[in-house]
Parts: sequence; C-alpha cells; structure tokens
Amino acid sequence: MFKIAYLECTKCGAHFSADQPASICPTDGGVLYVRYDLEAIKRSFKRDSLSTRPATMWRYTEVLPDAPPVSLGEGFTPMLPSREFPNVFIKEEGLNPTGSFKARGMSAAVTMAKAYGLKKLAAPSAGNAASALAAYSAAAGLEAHIFMPKDVPLANRVECESYGAHVTLVNGLISDCAHMVGERKDKEGWFDVSTLKEPFRVEGKKTMGYEIAEQFGWKLPQGIIYPTGGGVGLLGMWKAFDEMEALGWIGSERPKMVAVQSAGCAPIVKAWDEHKATSEFWKDASTLASGLRVPKAYGDYLILEILKKNAGIALAATDTEIMEAFHQWARVEGIFAAPEGAASLVAYRKLRASGFFSADDKIVLFNTGSGLKYLDVIESQKKKPPASRQIGGIIGPY
Ligand SMILES: Cc1ncc(COP(=O)(O)O)c(C=O)c1O
Ligand SMILES: [Zn+2]
Repeated sequence: MFKIAYLECTKCGAHFSADQPASICPTDGGVLYVRYDLEAIKRSFKRDSLSTRPATMWRYTEVLPDAPPVSLGEGFTPMLPSREFPNVFIKEEGLNPTGSFKARGMSAAVTMAKAYGLKKLAAPSAGNAASALAAYSAAAGLEAHIFMPKDVPLANRVECESYGAHVTLVNGLISDCAHMVGERKDKEGWFDVSTLKEPFRVEGKKTMGYEIAEQFGWKLPQGIIYPTGGGVGLLGMWKAFDEMEALGWIGSERPKMVAVQSAGCAPIVKAWDEHKATSEFWKDASTLASGLRVPKAYGDYLILEILKKNAGIALAATDTEIMEAFHQWARVEGIFAAPEGAASLVAYRKLRASGFFSADDKIVLFNTGSGLKYLDVIESQKKKPPASRQIGGIIGPY
C-alpha cells in the first residue's frame, strides 16, 4: 500500500503532514488536497489490473488513503446510455448506499477518521451528506452529530435517526447549520467533516472521475454535467483526471465541466456570468433541490477555476424545469432521479439548444441521487399545475 505523500493547500501551496487529522490551511483557509507519490505508484499500478477488482470505489486503492476501508459497497455505479439522446450517458449515483453519491465522500472521510482514532464526527448537511455520514459512522462505530435545515426531505431525517446519529434540525439554511457546528465543535470534541473542511471527502468523490475514464475505455467524454452545491464531485473528478494523466492512463484532454445550479440558489452561476473568481453569499436561497441550496460554496474559487480551465460553463435550472426533467427521466429513461440530478437534463437541453454541445458530443449527466429520498418533495409538487414539455422557452433540436 502507498502512503499519502502530503496534504497541499490549494491556495498557497503549503504542505502538511497527513499523520494527524487536518482541516483547512491555517494561514489562508485554503482547501487541502491529498497528494500521493504518483511517480512511484505509476511503476506498479496499471489500469489493466482493475478488471479483476471489486466493483466499489475502493478498486482504486493505490490512489486512496491507506487505511482499512469503512465500506458499504459504494461506487462503481452504472453508466447508462440515454434512451432519448444518442451519445448521452447517465451516471446513476442513486444506486449508492444511502441513495446518493455522498456515500463516496463519507466512506473515505469516515475511513480516515477511524484510522486517526477520532470518536465523534460532526457536519452540517443539506440532507444526503447527513444520511451518508450517519450510515458510515454507524458502520465504523463512531458518533455522528448532524445539523440539517428543518425542511430537509423526510427520508434524510428518518435515515439519520435510524442510524443512531444525533440530529439537530435548524430553522435556517446549511450555512446556519455550518455556523452551529463551528461554534460547538471544540467544546464538544467533534471533528468537523463539513464539505471541504477536511481533505478526504474529495478523495472519495474523485473516484467518479476514475470510473468515467474506466467505463469509457480510458477516453474522457466531451462534457460532464454536474449538479453543483458545494462542488466536491466537480473538484474531485478534475483531481482524478490530473492524477490519471500523471499515471499515464489518459492524455491531456479534458471534458468541458458544466456546473448546474438551481435558479433559486445560483451563486456559482452568478459569479461565472460576472467573470468573478469567487462567489457571493446567495440571499434567500430557495429550491426544492435541497442539495443545491448552498448559498456559498467553500471551494467556490476551485469550482470557478475548473470551469475556466477547459471552457466549461455554469447555468441554472428553475424548479419547474427540474420537475419536468424529473418526470421525463422517469418516463423515458426509467430513472427515478433526485431533483438535483434532474437538473443535469435541464442543463443538457439548454446547452444543446444553444449549440454549446452538439449531438455528436459524448456527454455524461450526473444523477447524483435517488428520487426515493424525495417522495415528500415530489408529492408536494403534484399539487402544482403540470409543467410544459418546453423548457425555459427553448425547444431544443433534439
Ligand atoms: C442529490 C445531490 N446532488 C447534488 C448535491 C450537491 O453536491 P456537492 O455539494 O458535491 O456539489 C447534493 C448535496 O447535498 C445532493 O444531495
Ligand atoms: Zn494556504
């Protein structure tokens, strides 16, 4: 097994040891990335060796933290060809343990927390990260302290309670929950596993990038559409592409990365449109896609940098568009998506209609979670008048 070489600040480049739990850069608050000695790993880790390995994210073990995995079978999710659009593929993350891609990040973070001997973990969550933290903490025999907005989908709350987590429902947004964790963690002895406040959730999420390459025969697609709240998956996939290039598994080509947000909370889209390097706090955030209700992403500077690197884009989907796309995927693809995932379809249609992507471009749409987590949200939308098939005033050339 290969050791982590060091942790690196994404702002100032400072190096830190991974021998003890780390959070963010003490100098500038930068997100820390895990760095490995890829030159050494390259000599013995060959992509052809993967075919006989277990179908979980831990198949990429050489480029993951070297501790006994706390695993519930996360990752290696299907890459489904769309029934509606040739060259479009849906990465079905709803099949992960706890029904969302958050399982990947929490599997890695809880693995390392256990390896470090931590006992009590805490996180603010829009919902699905909470479910994942609760499940993996239960599996690891650790305490989970979770702060969620009081209007999270019912499933998230019921799951967390069932897994034995300590749940606090907050009359506010994820940013208010984060504030509470920050205030109490030192006194309570909690380790904060908030999005990007520790280095290992990115490591779990990056396996989505490895999987895309492996599932496509080591040739990356032209575009990846990713429902972006905190943006961890986007950062993770980009990190994976750079690692795979260093391992000699892929070349220098990269997909155009697309961050889709909800029109009711679109700080990254606003920053992108205004050519800013960071985002502003989005006031009065409101959307039924609870995972996208993140008013200010901690790693906004990294998300915006990645969009810029290969001519990507950020765009928003309204709740009406998201629900229409949700029904379309259910009826046409047989996929019961999370609203966040359905936003990917909205983005794809808009980007086809605008000519950003062509019919020949191979594109991956992320369905980041299962709609089964959102039955209350979906039912509540039934009372509203049916959405039209026409999206955002654009009838696409599909
Ligand atoms: C289903 C789903 N999709 C997307 C997101 C956004 O994920 P990220 O914070 O990694 O951008 C979340 C976050 O809660 C989510 O639950
Ligand atoms: Zn720094």
